Amino acid sequence: MIAEEARLHAAWLPPEAFRALGSRRVLVHGDGMLVDTVLDEVARACARYGGRMWHSPSWDVDVDLVLALRGTDELPSATVQAARAAGEAALAQAGDNAVLGAEGFVLARAGDVTAVLADAPAGLLYGLFHLVRLGAAAFDTTRPAEQHRPALRRRMLNHWDNVAVHPVMGQVERGYAGGSIFWRNGRPRGDLARIREYARLLAACGINAISVNNVNVGRTEARLLTDRLGDVAEIADVLRPYGIRVHLSVTFAAPVVLGGLPNADPVDEAVRAWWAVTTRQVYERIPDFGGYVVKADSEGQPGPFTYGRDHADGANLLADALAPHGGVVHWRAFVYNHHQDWRDRSTDRARAAYDHFVPLDGRFRDNVVLQVKFGPVDFQVREPVSPVLAAMPATRLAVEVQVTQEYTGQQRHVCHLGPWWSEVLRFAPWGPGGRTVADVAAGEAGEGGGLVAVANVGDDLFWTGHPLAQANLYTVGRLAWDPQLDPRAVLDEWIALTFPQSAMADPELVGRTLHEIMDDSWRTYERYTAPLGVGFMVHPGDHYGPDVDGYEYTRWGTYHFADRDGVGVDRSRASGTGFAGQYPPYWAQVYESPERCPDELLLFFHHVPYGHVLHDGSTVIQHIYDTHFAGVEEVAVMRGRWRTLKGLIDPAVYERVEQRLDEQARSATEWRDQTNTYFFRKSGVPDAHGRRIY
Ligand code: GCU
Repeated sequence: MIAEEARLHAAWLPPEAFRALGSRRVLVHGDGMLVDTVLDEVARACARYGGRMWHSPSWDVDVDLVLALRGTDELPSATVQAARAAGEAALAQAGDNAVLGAEGFVLARAGDVTAVLADAPAGLLYGLFHLVRLGAAAFDTTRPAEQHRPALRRRMLNHWDNVAVHPVMGQVERGYAGGSIFWRNGRPRGDLARIREYARLLAACGINAISVNNVNVGRTEARLLTDRLGDVAEIADVLRPYGIRVHLSVTFAAPVVLGGLPNADPVDEAVRAWWAVTTRQVYERIPDFGGYVVKADSEGQPGPFTYGRDHADGANLLADALAPHGGVVHWRAFVYNHHQDWRDRSTDRARAAYDHFVPLDGRFRDNVVLQVKFGPVDFQVREPVSPVLAAMPATRLAVEVQVTQEYTGQQRHVCHLGPWWSEVLRFAPWGPGGRTVADVAAGEAGEGGGLVAVANVGDDLFWTGHPLAQANLYTVGRLAWDPQLDPRAVLDEWIALTFPQSAMADPELVGRTLHEIMDDSWRTYERYTAPLGVGFMVHPGDHYGPDVDGYEYTRWGTYHFADRDGVGVDRSRASGTGFAGQYPPYWAQVYESPERCPDELLLFFHHVPYGHVLHDGSTVIQHIYDTHFAGVEEVAVMRGRWRTLKGLIDPAVYERVEQRLDEQARSATEWRDQTNTYFFRKSGVPDAHGRRIY
């Protein structure tokens, strides 16, 4: 549904999603900036749907819903007090000494009243959005009490937005939804109302931190730290009422490019003093500033290597400047040699993060979060989980995923990533039944680095270019809040909010069709693109569409080594690069063996003949043909299904998705034909089913 102003799609917060809440009598008890946000949301909903709202201190009123901060005064209403008592009782019964923390909440029923209690204002805000998700079910008299606390403390988005338009990457690096919502042509975009809407959407799915500029920090962007700090403060002011803290990507060379110092050496006292003073000034302006994000010694960004120092020296320099103010530095582990010689088969980009960082375990300050891409290479549609996540027990680790669909169809293809992220978060790096990636991100005592996602929004009417890509943003927030959530159930939530039943002629058909299109769309995308975990068969530079050999003879370290006999990268210890040996024993053994390695990762770990037989009995070459034909057919089915929604949903959404499905069908066909033809020509093996290969 397009918001009243018709300039912006309401995404998962259309007014209709507030109907159940807005038609009730609501009492809000407590004070604080985020409580004001709750009041504002409830007041708007009640004004629209005929409910009423009171703010404490307020007198004897009959209510349907109480949202209260614990520890606030009693109110002279027996009903309200009974509701609060029910919440307390539910907590006491849970027996964990009833601490909800900074963001948690409890929901309980007392007779006809629903109560939401929280220790802190942010908890009330999250409780409110939980009520919105539940809709009428929140007022079901038989609903049992429930408690919610986020599993991950920091649930962060990184915007790869440039302030000045980059000559190659544009306004948003790897952005597929128009310009930036923050910046335009070197200046702030100035649409604070839109940023506020964004903050609401993020709070409603659980995000609580964002960095507002690209990890590749150019000259203009560098200045956000100093003389352009006001631009950042303005954004922080808008995000704050929704519980979102601002972080900034900074350049390691800042003391030189901004401070005029001769070097940025982390052990130089003048450099240390510059960071300390600069950081103090940031906090004077933005007291709840989150901290820095740093891409150092990576793809041309400056870093400590210039001065013969290592990444711990570099990260600790910034950590020391941030520590007095409670800030953190997110130091990225995406470090590898991007000037590799393709002739050299011993160097393996997949090994790089581990080789650089694991020896430094234990040397990082407590307020350093090492931000690790979920896979060892680069956000491919299929990769093993990064072995770094299992190898640094004395370091706070964050897992980084990519919501912007750089390698997964660039928001022209439907590619719902929830199932993929869920698989990654549930993966047990020490072997089945052991601790999971989500456990690592949560940390032993809740002190882990959390989940970080590269954002996918822009100034597009639908926020994300492809309207269905909104679900990826919603899902990453929800999985960061609770990695155990079933991605199908999260998609259900998104559908119910975005396409509210009360506003649909045939909600059952809409819901079913969206599931049919989206549930398996990541696997469909995998089928018609690079096979069996081999990765990187994309067009160089823009990374859209097929180019099987596009990176094969380049410096980027992303090769598939296809020849007339076989394909894949030998990463075994026995005969390859040894990458498989970076895993704890269970997976090291599984990945080492072409027989035991899961099919979907076979070509990531092994170079095998085209006739190699997979676990399902098919050969590698026949698998390539079959999946590519199947993937394109699945896209055709998606298109047909979407057409059944014509006239049943918002025509603007309908049309945008229809156009994008046309492009997806074209692009998938191109992928199929180039990939199949390439491997047919290399191998000379015909398709067992005699289908057309060019
Ligand atoms: C990818 C992407 C770059 C980005 C980099 C990063 O390589 O193509 O645009 O800068 O990841 O994560 O830093």
